[in-house]
Amino acid sequence: KKVGILGVPFSKGNGKTGAEQAPTAILEHGLLKSLTNFDANPNLDVEDFGEVKFSSKKLKRPVSDIKNYAEFIGCIERVSKRVHSIIEEGRLCITIGGDHSIAAGTVDGHARAKDGNIAILWIDAHADINTPKTSHTGHPHGMPLSFVVKELRDHWSEYPEIEWRTPIVPARNIAYIGLRSVDDYERLIIDRLGITAFGMDEVDDLGIPEIMRRALKVIDPEQNRSIHLSFDIDGLDPLEAPATGTPVRGGITLREGIQIVETVYKTGRLGAFDLCEVNPQMGREEDVRKTLQAATDLIKAATGHRRSGRTAKIPT
Ligand code: ARG
Ligand code: MN
Ligand code: MN
Ligand code: MN
Repeated sequence: KKVGILGVPFSKGNGKTGAEQAPTAILEHGLLKSLTNFDANPNLDVEDFGEVKFSSKKLKRPVSDIKNYAEFIGCIERVSKRVHSIIEEGRLCITIGGDHSIAAGTVDGHARAKDGNIAILWIDAHADINTPKTSHTGHPHGMPLSFVVKELRDHWSEYPEIEWRTPIVPARNIAYIGLRSVDDYERLIIDRLGITAFGMDEVDDLGIPEIMRRALKVIDPEQNRSIHLSFDIDGLDPLEAPATGTPVRGGITLREGIQIVETVYKTGRLGAFDLCEVNPQMGREEDVRKTLQAATDLIKAATGHRRSGRTAKIPT
């Protein structure tokens, strides 16, 4: 199994700084060791691709309704290229953000590598599908899905420096799990486009295994799509992942989060995994440590770690 790890130290998609420190913090917490540790997963080929270098774009005309637009576009164009090439190498691309706006780039790169035949599972308290016009905040991290969805491409037609983007993923290929803070226009978009959305109310009613069955059946009916699992750490309950910029109480547990990732891993079609919105500047040291460990556990599950263990290979 081949895996590539890519860091994206970008936080201009959010109103706060701190998320740019997450790739380094998660690596320093011991990520690579816990992935390549023999007990975790033998024969795992992990390549660390380091951090994406990016800079802001020169704009021919100013953009006022999206905050830090020049920085955002400059970053995600590079992210898209890097993710594209890592997936073309035959690796599962694990991208560590950064705020969730970077997923506009990871999804674009993944979609191009697979000619649009991808399914997106979005784990989040928020829907992140605002268009520039529906957003109340102007923050790009509330918009990445609208940037990549085919049906919403016209909402971006007036914005500069995005000719490279390929919005080829149909809305029906998306499912959400964990929603509990959805803006009214986002709900309208979800309903109009027929996007599958499991809020916390449904998590409570159905449980994760049933939700996973239903979600995968809708977004990957022929079981032939490359699955993009985009995990916003704020999908988890802040009790277990407090160090994040926009926490919302009443979320999924770490166990449920791991179960989601394990279920996708077991399909054999996990093509890209994003872990976003960890903010090592939020809360006390203990809060940060807890959140870094939760992120590590989710990434481990994405590379095939089994909680119940593996049989040792006896050295010859
Ligand atoms: N819906 C709000 C907005 O549009 C919050 C988005 C939060 N997104 C996130 N990736 N944490 O700004
Ligand atoms: Mn969120
Ligand atoms: Mn809002
Ligand atoms: Mn998000």
